[in-house]
Amino acid sequence: MDFSRRGFLEMNAALAASMNAQVSPNDRIRVAFIGCGARAHELMAAVMTHPQFEIAAVCDAYQGRVARALDRIKDTRGSSARVLRDYREAVADASIDAIVVATPDHWHKVMVLDGLKAKKDVYCEKPLTYRSAEGLEIVAAAKQTGRIVQVGSQGMSSISQNRAKQMIKEGRLGKVTMVRAAYNRNTASGAWIYPIPPDASPATVNWDMFLGGAPKKSFDLARFFRWRCYQDYSGGIATDLFVHLCTTIHYLMDAVVPSKVMAMGELYRWKESRDVPDTLNAILEYPEGFTANLSSTFNNQSSSEASFTFLGTEGTLSVGWGELKYWPEAVQEDNRWIVESWPKALQARYYADPKVQKEEVPSLAKAHLVDGGSSWREQGQDPTIIHFWHFLNSIRSRKPYWEDASAGHHAAACAHMVNQSVRQSKLVQWDFATDDIKA
Ligand SMILES: NC(=O)c1ccc[n+]([C@@H]2O[C@H](COP(=O)([O-])OP(=O)(O)OC[C@H]3O[C@@H](n4cnc5c(N)ncnc54)[C@H](O)[C@@H]3O)[C@@H](O)[C@H]2O)c1
Repeated sequence: MDFSRRGFLEMNAALAASMNAQVSPNDRIRVAFIGCGARAHELMAAVMTHPQFEIAAVCDAYQGRVARALDRIKDTRGSSARVLRDYREAVADASIDAIVVATPDHWHKVMVLDGLKAKKDVYCEKPLTYRSAEGLEIVAAAKQTGRIVQVGSQGMSSISQNRAKQMIKEGRLGKVTMVRAAYNRNTASGAWIYPIPPDASPATVNWDMFLGGAPKKSFDLARFFRWRCYQDYSGGIATDLFVHLCTTIHYLMDAVVPSKVMAMGELYRWKESRDVPDTLNAILEYPEGFTANLSSTFNNQSSSEASFTFLGTEGTLSVGWGELKYWPEAVQEDNRWIVESWPKALQARYYADPKVQKEEVPSLAKAHLVDGGSSWREQGQDPTIIHFWHFLNSIRSRKPYWEDASAGHHAAACAHMVNQSVRQSKLVQWDFATDDIKA
């Protein structure tokens, strides 16, 4: 991929051309949506901006969401889609080219593997996995079947993150040894306590379909609609939010996976609603030569909801969703408080040195302006649209995009390392030989 400004202009021009193109039915890519929940509806909107994509089939465990999906397709395209009772019908349907997996996390591996085995290209929402070792199976299956796997952390397709990547690569930051990234919220909705549709009941919700291989539990609408709060289906903050942070950090820093992770997590506030922490802090050490500090709280959002700071010897880059700020380091040597304690004659000799005068006495330096930095804000297409455009390109070119099975495996593995460290109160290490968490 070309990260230059020209590259992005070309990419946008190509995107516009592809959107305006007349598409013959034979060029259509027929997609089945497995899971039609909140995220899937955002994805459907993005998918339908591309005339090449046709949403041919939909499947969900709650009838209300299937109905809304059919309405959305009809309102946007004036067409309908086949309603599937089970995702396996999409896998078995030879007319389906690609599946979008947007179900709770405990289902991802099974659905992705079944899709690949049936020769479908697969777009899977993040996190790719619910357990680290699942990633190995998916990476192997993608390789074996030659199908495309793209994972859904769309931030890395945004133009701001790609500009940030370019700036880091060009050395504008000098050597980056520290990355700070955070995801903070302070609402019930931010803490995943979503409203439950009033018509949800055993008549409209297929509980067994939701449970799949998860531990058997009796019908529970909170678990069904707020599944992120429960370890049976999710890894909580780590798999829901840190995965986005790690995907971006890996992409921008050309890093693969941390060698060591240490983390602490606590449930301070939303105790009645979950069995996962609402506050999480982690330190990830990368063999590429930097450390990342990740943190998240659901109890304060005074600092922006999601942000990254890349700290380099020559400059700092702050990356938020849709915005970018750069400011160079303006460092000044200053040994006054040390030299002040020396014998007077030695102090005078120290300051007589022209090198010291140049470096340590700013008032003697030639007057100059210091770069105060720059900032940018994104406008235009949402990153999800751009991300899907990459998926479309991969389907056509048969070349996977950066966020492929391997990138998805490693980003999700960070989350699993974080959770393991919290559970065991121990440092967790990566085994580069097995490409999995060290036993
Ligand atoms: N990339 C992003 O920014 C982003 C944002 C939100 C969610 N997500 C991811 O998207 C996925 C879905 O999250 P969501 O917020 O849409 O959750 P959701 O609960 O709103 O939707 C999940 C849907 O899956 C359905 N489902 C469950 N089991 C199923 C099965 N066996 N077959 C078919 N459908 C089934 C449920 O009925 C539900 O409608 C998760 O992996 C989540 O991490 C990504």
